[in-house]
Amino acid sequence: MKCTHKTGIVLLWVFFVSHVFAQISGFPAKGDASKYYNDPVIKEKVEKLLSRMTLEEKIGQLTLFAAKGIITGPGESGNIEEFIRKGQCGNIFGTKTVEDVIRLQKIAVEESRLKIPLLFGFDVIHGFKTIFPVNIGISASWDMEEIERFAHVSAEEASAAGLNWTFSPMCDISRDPRWGRVSEGCGEDSYLASHITAAMVKAYQGNDLKADNTILACVKHFIAYGAAEAGRDYNTVDMSERVLRDIYLPPYRAAIDAGAATVMTAFNEYDGIPVTANRFLLKKILREEIGFNGFVVTDFTAINELIPHGIAGDSLQAAQLAIDAGVNVDMVGNVYLFYLKQLVNSGKVSMETIDKLCGEVLKFKYYSGLFDDPFRYCKKQQSTCYYKDEYLESARNMAKKSMVLLQNNNGALPIAKGQKIALIGPFADTTREMLGSWAIAGEPSKTTTFFKGLQMRFGKENVFMEQCCKPDAEIENGFDKALKLAEQSDVILLTLGLPQSWSGEAASLTSIRLPELQTSLLREIKKAGKPIVILLVTARPLDLSQETELADAILVTWNPGTKAGEALADVLSGDYNPSGKLTMTFPRNIGQIPVYYNHKNTGRPVGFQSSSNQKYTSCYLFTPNEPLFPFGYGLSYTTFEYSDIKVKNPVAEEGDTVVVSGYVKNTGKVAGEEVIQLYIRDLIGSVTRPVRELKGFRKIFLQPGESKEVTFLITPDDLSFYRADMTFGQETGEYHVWIGGNSNATLQSEFEIK
Ligand code: NOJ
Repeated sequence: MKCTHKTGIVLLWVFFVSHVFAQISGFPAKGDASKYYNDPVIKEKVEKLLSRMTLEEKIGQLTLFAAKGIITGPGESGNIEEFIRKGQCGNIFGTKTVEDVIRLQKIAVEESRLKIPLLFGFDVIHGFKTIFPVNIGISASWDMEEIERFAHVSAEEASAAGLNWTFSPMCDISRDPRWGRVSEGCGEDSYLASHITAAMVKAYQGNDLKADNTILACVKHFIAYGAAEAGRDYNTVDMSERVLRDIYLPPYRAAIDAGAATVMTAFNEYDGIPVTANRFLLKKILREEIGFNGFVVTDFTAINELIPHGIAGDSLQAAQLAIDAGVNVDMVGNVYLFYLKQLVNSGKVSMETIDKLCGEVLKFKYYSGLFDDPFRYCKKQQSTCYYKDEYLESARNMAKKSMVLLQNNNGALPIAKGQKIALIGPFADTTREMLGSWAIAGEPSKTTTFFKGLQMRFGKENVFMEQCCKPDAEIENGFDKALKLAEQSDVILLTLGLPQSWSGEAASLTSIRLPELQTSLLREIKKAGKPIVILLVTARPLDLSQETELADAILVTWNPGTKAGEALADVLSGDYNPSGKLTMTFPRNIGQIPVYYNHKNTGRPVGFQSSSNQKYTSCYLFTPNEPLFPFGYGLSYTTFEYSDIKVKNPVAEEGDTVVVSGYVKNTGKVAGEEVIQLYIRDLIGSVTRPVRELKGFRKIFLQPGESKEVTFLITPDDLSFYRADMTFGQETGEYHVWIGGNSNATLQSEFEIK
């Protein structure tokens, strides 16, 4: 093109605008998720159906009832059957059997006027029948293939029971182990959690929602629920928008970008407005920025709770607030059911709004193929579709890969053949405790206890058991009997931990120490003078400062699920070399909370160069800042050595991918898996940056003496964050990069973004 004076100015202007726009545009106006669920054929079908529906029937589609006997919150749903018949209940959750699904679906498609099929939801959180470890344990495997398999098995089993919707994945980051629901999440790190939640969504939903082995995912609890003040469930959340976007948002976003069909609103408020009525969160961030194209369901009675929150005076106002925020479905609360009509009739809510919200629900009944065949999930031979061998094998693999070896002094583990084993403590021979907090359809009778698993592996003649106490109460003469058994054995396996009911929803704690009785048991057993291995049954980080002093080895087993006993035997015998790594920091004591690896440096970090007086640095008087066990930590029966870290392009341009490699060698005597972790630090930013951030991980297997080169790609996205002006993008400057086996990795290199 010939460049005249005029075109020159125009070009300059275009360059200027696009350049400035690139600088300030931040997050794309419409996110990736907007590409899903736009099928014009389905759109037309939905519109046609809407045109035949009465207002009451539309409101019915915006209503979710809990099946009889399902109580996962205060209150129960009423006479479900009658509402289904009248077309006033479009969705049910909590049916456990296919017979229940068939019975209710029949009412919907045979007795209601428009025969609209029901969606059936369920809390399939860490398995349906075959129970996997609690989710924090699953995350500790860092094994994306196993994680996909776990979610796939969950979908297979749940769908066989007629279900087509799970309330999972939980995407809540938490830095506070007092909060009981850390058990349901992926820990404290957004990067790892984003990978896990996206993988779960893809595995639940598969490539075709119509397939009879896929289920809709539900990203929950949107958003920031994990930051409840003081770890008290349902409590106030107060954080900057920057922390919300940089730390809390990514796992929800990743799961939605992976195609999640539904999102559940959280109970908490954010910036003074409960999420269920928060237009900034539900409209601006969720719909506009992320481009979410599915439907939003509340958590259990969350619309009703707008009243005690103090932003609605009555149910009518609560309904209005939720509708205005774009909430599609009311879980159990009946607020939409009883008040929406009045709002529409008085002109406070338009019919267009109702149609839009209702259409977003209906379309998933088409996507799931329920209009073609409402019983498509109900046809499998029930006796053959649960606990299949391959499902049990997955559960066992996941359980053994999730276990984290925190301490192993004097090579206490693995246990050599022929040793006399004393298995002691409250979790030695329990089934329900193995299953964890969300195992509604799980069956204790199908679960292998630790005792059984160890006897099968080490022989009945070598394994002896003394339960001796409940988690917080001694059984008569229990300690005496336990000590006696300990004295007669070669190695003591002491099961300690928290009852499963002390984790999960509404299970916040103000102490993260073991019950005093258990520590006393440990002291008592110590008198036997034999090696002690603690098997820690927990679904949250605990303060183990006393136990690390008293025991030789500590293995975190979590609540390992259906195959608890077999998986434990795999690890203790050395048949499987432990490879799990913590995804939440284990504090030294409760006073350190919140303590997490990706903290900021502060203006007065410990060891601050220019300070001659270390007192005035950011530290405690009597406790170090460092936790007992950091994020990413976990031992193996072998050792790994890291070397030769290299940055291929140490001076990169903005927009370039930085390539970092290093070598890992198995320097021990047995084969094993290692989770290699890559961390970065952005040294100077327009806003302060964390001292470390996970930006890559890889799980590899190495034979003794074997060495492998591992390469990581750090993309511009990985380096992006919300800058001082709240735009999302990267900045130029210098970075440190580390590769290693936990968040304290020391092998370091540098790069620069120009
Ligand atoms: C309340 C919980 O917060 C949520 O996670 C769960 O999905 C619902 N109850 C339904 O059980």
